[in-house]
Amino acid sequence: MEYVTLGKSDLSVSRICMGGCPMGQYGWGDVQEKELLDAISAAIDNGVNFFDTADVYGMGTSEQTLAKGLGNRRSDVVIATKFGVRVENGRTFYDNSAEWIRKAVEGSLKRLNTDYIDLYQIHYRDGVTPLADVVESLLQLQQQGLIRHFGLSNVFEKDFQEIANLKDYFVSFQDEYSLACRKNEADIQHLAQELSLTPLTWGSLGQGVLTGKYTAETEFGNNDRRSRDIYVNFHGEKFRQNLRIVEAMRPIAAAHGKSIAAVAIRFIMDYLPSSVVLCGAKRPDQILGNIQGADWQLAATELDILNSVSL
Ligand SMILES: NC(=O)c1ccc[n+]([C@@H]2O[C@H](COP(=O)([O-])OP(=O)(O)OC[C@H]3O[C@@H](n4cnc5c(N)ncnc54)[C@H](OP(=O)(O)O)[C@@H]3O)[C@@H](O)[C@H]2O)c1
Repeated sequence: MEYVTLGKSDLSVSRICMGGCPMGQYGWGDVQEKELLDAISAAIDNGVNFFDTADVYGMGTSEQTLAKGLGNRRSDVVIATKFGVRVENGRTFYDNSAEWIRKAVEGSLKRLNTDYIDLYQIHYRDGVTPLADVVESLLQLQQQGLIRHFGLSNVFEKDFQEIANLKDYFVSFQDEYSLACRKNEADIQHLAQELSLTPLTWGSLGQGVLTGKYTAETEFGNNDRRSRDIYVNFHGEKFRQNLRIVEAMRPIAAAHGKSIAAVAIRFIMDYLPSSVVLCGAKRPDQILGNIQGADWQLAATELDILNSVSL
């Protein structure tokens, strides 16, 4: 496994992070708790020490599943979770207020069965609370030993100056990035290079389309979020383009004896230096396929092929 230090922190994390969205067991088709628990164990056994979740994934189920899967190995790993998305009476909205952050952290600590959160991330800004006020709330939690480091997520260009002014408080940021989604590339490079924040990429497998198992005939059931048009990677011309990207990945994967998912992950690791690749996995075989992304490199010609087919 390859490791990187998050920003200016003391957190050394695996460059492949197990994403906790499927651990929420909601909206990803058939997901079994036993397989998730085995996947968490397999991840740790194979060098993964970084796990990302959020309070809203499965309305707390993801954090609880992660805690159960870690068992007595909690101190061996780095846990990242998020706050700021609030669901009440069927309504979803963003809230970065001091009152909500306090409630959110208490809920996450309880569900994660831990005394501290290593990386506490603003899932989404709420559009009203200044970033300086959010930092103030987080500093209080940090002083109490409840959280160790702060991270950003889903950052937009309009917020860059505000972030730059407070950059020393943060160690990382999350953004969607993969061979299927390169629209945030310039933003990611700016935040990484100019502000020295570590990029954590989400949707790194294009929500699964970059693993090579889907075809033009694929249809998802109602219990799978990817049936909805908003999951653009699986609809219309974008889906057909993604299938063309997969065809370019196949011979590269075969040449290296790796899974197609590993090529998707390796592209990010090689193209975005010092990044961390978040990938969701539902079963041990999936996390093992993803771990194949570590400890090798794409040749320059292969990077060129992937670059040109995905731009
Ligand atoms: N900050 C944010 O707003 C934000 C947003 C989204 C996600 N995230 C984080 O980023 C993580 C990664 O994103 P994601 O989970 O949405 O999508 P992803 O990692 O791109 O795709 C995950 C899906 O791909 C399939 N898969 C995974 N490994 C595979 C393998 N080796 N072979 C075949 N199929 C495989 C699984 O679904 P199937 O088997 O059903 O295809 C899995 O659920 C999340 O889990 C979460 O921690 C953050």
